[in-house]
Parts: sequence; structure tokens; C-alpha cells
Amino acid sequence: MTNEQIQKVIDELNALKANTLKQVEEARVRFLGKKGEITALFEEFRSIAPEYKKQFGRPLNELKQAALAKIEELREVAGNEIASGAPADDLSLPGTSYELGSRHPVSIVRQQIVDIFRKFGYDVAEGPEIEDDWHVFEALNFPPNHPARDMQDTFFVSAGHDNPILLRTHTSSVQVRAMENMQLPIRVICPGRVFRNEAISARAHCIFHQVEGLYIDENVTFADLKQAILLFAREMFGADAKIRMRPSFFPFTEPSSEVDVSCNICHGKGCNICKGTGWLEILGCGMVDPNVLEANGIDSKKYSGFAFGMGIERIAMLKWQVNDLRHYFENDLRFLHEFDSALEV
Ligand code: PHE
Repeated sequence: MTNEQIQKVIDELNALKANTLKQVEEARVRFLGKKGEITALFEEFRSIAPEYKKQFGRPLNELKQAALAKIEELREVAGNEIASGAPADDLSLPGTSYELGSRHPVSIVRQQIVDIFRKFGYDVAEGPEIEDDWHVFEALNFPPNHPARDMQDTFFVSAGHDNPILLRTHTSSVQVRAMENMQLPIRVICPGRVFRNEAISARAHCIFHQVEGLYIDENVTFADLKQAILLFAREMFGADAKIRMRPSFFPFTEPSSEVDVSCNICHGKGCNICKGTGWLEILGCGMVDPNVLEANGIDSKKYSGFAFGMGIERIAMLKWQVNDLRHYFENDLRFLHEFDSALEV
């Protein structure tokens, strides 16, 4: 045995290339198989004189370890390439795709509503979800024992004192804050999340979203309200949409009205979405009650205004004919992906 013999195998090992698992196996056999080059050197080692064993034992063992490591490394690279079906540097392969999320249908409709009213010159105002009784009820002319204040409707954070803290039941509270803080004339919409202590069903939820609007100026009339709602309905449901106003009651508006839009599915003929009536209820509205203006420091002799409020989920349900409110809160991807193409709207 000579040093040159060992060096020769080291050089061969360094120059070794193997691209496929088959070539790696051939290389293993060539160096470490029963008749392999390194195996042969070990055979020879057994028969050399004991005084030379020290000189060759160590380099031989190192050579064997290096060969095992090299074969293992080659096997890993070749295996990966097999797994990907082609060499790693095949630039024609499709890249790793990242799945993009999409906007929630409630966000899409909220944005559409906001965009429509922005076009009409409304500003967007936001306010706290945890509110006090004054902003949610008192300043809006709710009588002290109005049922909406009841524990059954309102989630209280802390009750039992003059001005209880609660989760807002409507975003009209933001309109009160607008009256407190903004210069007249005021023209705002208030999108946001609201909370009501209701049993969850296909038609009701304890959390939902609203957009409410408020316009206060000199000489604002019911005709202005009607026009604003009609233009909104046409933008939202199509140019041929009609509206119908039914008398209603809210503590903070007088007169008050509920608004229906002509059914965009049967165009007034009657179908199961509009329950045969040809009309779908979309919002509540009215002329701001003078008591509300006065409670917020606005001269009701000089100024008048209108307000309206709608549920975003309800508009979305009508727009996309979704028949169960709960879909909007369960985040089932099969439901959410239905709205991917609505992103561009
Ligand atoms: N705040 C009312 C609600 O939550 C909606 C509304 C707003 C009605 C403004 C009339 C005027 O039901």
C-alpha cells in the first residue's frame, strides 16, 4: 500500500459527478461495493505489516467517511430533482403560487355604498363601538323607558348609573358626534359595526354592519331626502330601480319612513325573494326630529335635515340573493370565494 494509491482515490472522489439516483448507486458500488476501490484498499490494509498500520489506518478511515458523505450528498441532490420531476434549474417550471385572499362581501358592499355617497358629496365619519347612553339613545330623543334601551336589545358594558356604557346598537351615535364636532352644514355617512342582543338566525345576528347618513342645512326638505334615496337606489340596484316610501316611526326622525326598492330579480312581477310583493325593504329614514337638533345645540328654527340608515348585510343579501345572514359571519371559504370576481367592482 502507498500514499499515492490513497491520493488517487481521493482525487477520483473529488471529481465524482452523479445526476441521477442510478449514477449515485453506480458510484457507491464503484467505491464502497464488495469489489469497490475503497473496499479493496481495506482488504490490502489487513495484510500489511503491523508497523505500517498506524501510517495508513487513519487516512483510510477518513477516506471511507468522506466517500460515504459524498455519496449521501449526491443522493440527496438527485432525489430532490426526481421529486420535482426535472432539474432544479428548469426555468420553464411554474413558480410557487401564493393564494391571495379577497375582500369580504360586507367590505365590498360597504365600499360601494361609501363610494356612491362620496359622489354625492358626503364625508365619511367613524366613531367608537363602545358608547354611552347619551350618544346612542338620549341625544336621539329616545324616551327614558324606550324598549330599545332594554337589556333584551342592548349589550351593556356598565349599567346602573346616569350614563351607562354600552355597545352601540346603531351608528346613529356617530351622527350625534358629527353634530357635536362638525361645522354646519353637515353631510356625513357613518359606516360601522353595531351590536344587538338578538338570537342568531337566518335573518338576525348579534353583530352586523350599518351605514347611516345625515344631512343638515337650511331648507332641507323631505323632497331632498327622497331624491337622495332614489339616486342611491339607482346606483346600487340599477338605473331602472324604483323606490317606495312607507310611513314608519323612529324616535329621532319625524316624519319617518321605511323605503322599499323594486325587486331586482323579478322587476316587480313578484318572486320568492320579494315574497310576491315586487318590493324589498332596504332602509329606514326621516326628517331629523327638532328635539334631536336642539339636544345637539342646533337651532331647529333655522336648520332642518334628514337621516337614513341601512344594514350592509341586508343590502348585500339582496344584491347577491344570499338567503342566510349567518353566511357572512362563518367565513366558510366556499362562500367567500363566490365574491372573488366582485373585487373589481
Ligand atoms: N338608526 C336606525 C336603525 O338602526 C336606522 C335609521 C337611521 C332610521 C336614520 C331613520 C333614520 O334601525
